[in-house]
Amino acid sequence: MVQSQLLAFALLSAGFVSAAIPSRDVQVANSSSSSALAKCPGYKASKVKTTATGLTAELTLAGKPCNVYGTDLKELVLQVTYETDNRLHVKIQDKANDVYQVPESVFPRPKSARVNSKKSALKFNYKLNPFSFSVSRSKTGEVLFDSSAAPMVFESQYLRLRTKLPNNPNLYGLGEHSDPFRLNTTNYIRTLWSQDSYGTPNGANLYGNHPVYFEHRKTGTHGVFLLNSNGMDVKIDKAGGQFLEYNTLGGVFDFYFMAGPSPIDVSQQYSEISGLPAMMPYWGLGFHQCRYGYRDAFEVAEVVHNYSVAGIPLETMWTDIDYMDRRRVFSLDPQRFPLHMVRQLVDKLHSNDQHYIVMVDPAVAYAEYPAFEEGIKDDIFMKRSNGSVWKGVVWAGVSVFPDWFAKNVEKYWIGQFLSFFSDSTGIQLDALWIDMNEPSNFPCNFPCDNPEAAAVGFPPEPPPVRTPPRPLPGWPCDFQPVGTACKRSVLDASETTDLEVRGPLRSKHEPLVARASGQQLGLPGRDLLYPKYAIHNKAAYQDSWNAEQGGISNKTVNTDLIHENGLAEYDVHNLYGTMMSALSRKAMLARRPTLRPLIITRSTFAGAGAQVGKWLGDNFSTWGHYREVIRTALGFASIYQVPMVGADICGFAQNTTQDLCARWAMLGAFSPFMRNHNEYLPTIPQEFYRWAVVTEAAKKAIDVRYRLLDYIYTAMYQQTVDGTPLLNPMFYLYPKDANTFGLDLQYFYGNGLLVAPVTEANSTSVDLYLPRDVFYDFWTLKKIEGKGRNIKVTDQSLTDIPLFLRGGVILPMRVKSAMTTTELRKQDFELIIPVGKDGKAQGQLYLDDGVSLEQKGVTNVRFDYAHGKLTVKGKWGYQTSVKISKVTVVGDGKNGKKVVGVNKRLTGDFVVKV
Ligand SMILES: *[C@@H]1O[C@H](CO)[C@@H](O)[C@H](O)[C@H]1NC(C)=O
Ligand SMILES: *[C@@H]1O[C@H](CO)[C@@H](O)[C@H](O)[C@H]1NC(C)=O
Ligand SMILES: *[C@@H]1O[C@H](CO)[C@@H](O)[C@H](O)[C@H]1NC(C)=O
Ligand SMILES: *[C@@H]1O[C@H](CO)[C@@H](O)[C@H](O)[C@H]1NC(C)=O
Ligand SMILES: *[C@@H]1O[C@H](CO)[C@@H](O)[C@H](O)[C@H]1NC(C)=O
Ligand SMILES: *[C@@H]1O[C@H](CO)[C@@H](O)[C@H](O)[C@H]1NC(C)=O
Ligand SMILES: *[C@@H]1O[C@H](CO)[C@@H](O)[C@H](O)[C@H]1NC(C)=O
Repeated sequence: MVQSQLLAFALLSAGFVSAAIPSRDVQVANSSSSSALAKCPGYKASKVKTTATGLTAELTLAGKPCNVYGTDLKELVLQVTYETDNRLHVKIQDKANDVYQVPESVFPRPKSARVNSKKSALKFNYKLNPFSFSVSRSKTGEVLFDSSAAPMVFESQYLRLRTKLPNNPNLYGLGEHSDPFRLNTTNYIRTLWSQDSYGTPNGANLYGNHPVYFEHRKTGTHGVFLLNSNGMDVKIDKAGGQFLEYNTLGGVFDFYFMAGPSPIDVSQQYSEISGLPAMMPYWGLGFHQCRYGYRDAFEVAEVVHNYSVAGIPLETMWTDIDYMDRRRVFSLDPQRFPLHMVRQLVDKLHSNDQHYIVMVDPAVAYAEYPAFEEGIKDDIFMKRSNGSVWKGVVWAGVSVFPDWFAKNVEKYWIGQFLSFFSDSTGIQLDALWIDMNEPSNFPCNFPCDNPEAAAVGFPPEPPPVRTPPRPLPGWPCDFQPVGTACKRSVLDASETTDLEVRGPLRSKHEPLVARASGQQLGLPGRDLLYPKYAIHNKAAYQDSWNAEQGGISNKTVNTDLIHENGLAEYDVHNLYGTMMSALSRKAMLARRPTLRPLIITRSTFAGAGAQVGKWLGDNFSTWGHYREVIRTALGFASIYQVPMVGADICGFAQNTTQDLCARWAMLGAFSPFMRNHNEYLPTIPQEFYRWAVVTEAAKKAIDVRYRLLDYIYTAMYQQTVDGTPLLNPMFYLYPKDANTFGLDLQYFYGNGLLVAPVTEANSTSVDLYLPRDVFYDFWTLKKIEGKGRNIKVTDQSLTDIPLFLRGGVILPMRVKSAMTTTELRKQDFELIIPVGKDGKAQGQLYLDDGVSLEQKGVTNVRFDYAHGKLTVKGKWGYQTSVKISKVTVVGDGKNGKKVVGVNKRLTGDFVVKV
């Protein structure tokens, strides 16, 4: 067969022998290198041309090159554009246009509108020699950013730019991290370089790279986004005056400044740059269960069954890489997860109105099987300079990595999805989970020149094959023990691995794109493996969590690989997960073109939210990690525009405990993405039904979550329309209250529900901060006057979580929860109206069919309450028989609480007297 000839060629050309790459010392930034940097001459500006909407200038090196971490570029150009009333774009790049820039295909630029500088809330100011610039507020002159703190350095493999900041600034953002939400301002480094971050260590670079920060001052909030995908350290320190300093391994200075002035304004303005987040299906907000190590389809079915017996609503069942044949992507284990059983499992889930999700990894096993052979044929794997595929090691053993820039990769990836996840003959997948897309090459230390040796022990030995050990009431015959009198499926398991060859052959291996100048392909002659400036790439996967990881290629794909379009992995490493996300979204849409894809990824870059949601990776079952969920999730939802976010509930690695799991079940119910997931044996199982108290906690929390689901869905929808965050840090809603700036153990879910969980082991109380405002205990509706100080909530058992309504925000709730979101959508609404200090309240409700990409008719209404009168007004396009059956006003007048039964169909505007 053509196929096996091709394979023989591939195996030959991607042969075993490889020259060891000599190891070299990488210099770390030390005092003598910083004194070398002090000699850098900076640039001088000339030929400044000012127009009504911006300016351009040329920058030339102002003295002898310092060449500290590369070669100083002599000629740069500056382009300043007032893009909107509150967004300023400042770009400094090489005159020759050779330096790599983030491709438009990966990060589409905001529409290039221009406004008159006189209309802008921001003002660009500059000095000619040495060149520096500052950005200030037009009205007050307050300086927000000032690069005169140090001479700008623009070298072939190193860029530096430092801005002065006020002392102890309130800074937030700069990518995925597990450090305090408000960033440290002393001797702090945020490194942006995607890595497989097992244990999500503090102070380390993790999976997600979002080079944007928000700075909050009492005078207003602003944002700064640096569109640059190269590895970088962002240093924040006080030495020599408070500053923030970018140190990148390349790329250009491509800054977007956002004027705010409120934190929510900055979020909205950033969403115009990053792209608005993708709307999720309604059911995606249901409760998800997963585990790494479910040994076979029977065990997966048994978990579904046990949830149902326990009476805990389970919306979606997941399977980790266990379903794969020897951990090979796009294959099924013919004995543990045979196709006929997986299809029956999914049919059964669907008949219960439940859903099914599996994991897909980018790396493809270097082995004789269709996904590999077709990838070779389509010529889509990353290659060495000699044309052989580059091999690393992932779960399946020796593996190769898709090149998301390859011409045929779209055809290949979509083809795999259409076939393997075919609704009629494959796995009837409802949504997707993508992992290991940093990309991870974890068992193979750099230079990974002997992947076969590093792959010993991979794939791990699968558990012994068994037949279903016990009856599973209500499940198809294949899920019943041998000897049960019933009709078994006659399908032959071997059919499942023999997937047919797909797609036409490519005629010949096409050469790499010729390297031409002026195309932003990256400067030639760089050391792509050993840049002299060493970013602080911290090790995960080791005993010592803060050990240096070493070179930038360690445990990922080598950074000297050149993609098919000529770009170097050195420049585009941080885009890998986001590119896999975008293409996987296309693939899911190719399968089910009318449905909103739900995709959960691990690695992200700026803009990822427009394609996918995000889980927070491989955390631990510890109280520390439980607390960290809040700040990390806040970053994604309120800063990076990735609102569909959540961590592994009860923790992924290490053994959870009953208490931790109960508390986490409740906290997890107040994250947008709610999934329990954990590590394989010997880690103990942690499905919620494993402990009576966790069962009770989960039921209670999911009950509230589901009754609030439309409030959350509405808030998520609003974020997809204008970037208004679904989760709010305290200071977003109380920007003048300095006590809120550092809080990251309590937050607002939407803008009306304050969540303040118990955060310590063995504790039954919480100290939480209430700003000067009116709040109501969610559970009792008792009014609490916020005094601008802490209150202590006591007697919180393992099945309690403190929740507060914020006065002035109306919450639409379902009167009753249900076992699935399908049933939930049939329940009537009630409105809870906790009035604010002024006796008024407002709210919103958005309804649609929950799944369609293009909606035929939507309902989007506003509630306004004042003086005993509720007005409901808006658009009523979604047909439903559901009604509003009850209105509860709290805090208006003396009576405390007033409940009225109503019977209002959701078909047109109305008024209710309360
Ligand atoms: C390319 O280089 C690798 C590593 O040195 C080697 O294993 C492979 O055989 C080479 N391929 C060709 C076609 O020369
Ligand atoms: C410090 O940096 C300088 C300049 O880059 C380099 O020559 C030197 O080897 C470094 N020293 C140490 C101890 O890393
Ligand atoms: C942040 O600063 C505090 C106080 O200086 C320090 O204890 C802590 O370790 C720092 N955290 C990180 C992640 O650097
Ligand atoms: C499901 O529940 C049964 C009965 O309690 C128990 O024996 C079995 O181990 C459980 N299985 C799983 C996968 O939870
Ligand atoms: C790669 O990282 C591991 C820790 O994860 C470390 O032990 C090793 O020295 C590193 N190797 C290189 C070449 O950086
Ligand atoms: C978790 O508990 C199991 C069963 O008690 C034990 O075998 C395993 O070693 C524990 N794992 C850890 C990380 O403590
Ligand atoms: C919680 O209580 C357990 C059992 O008494 C004890 O082992 C543990 O150290 C306590 N943890 C904390 C943080 O107090």
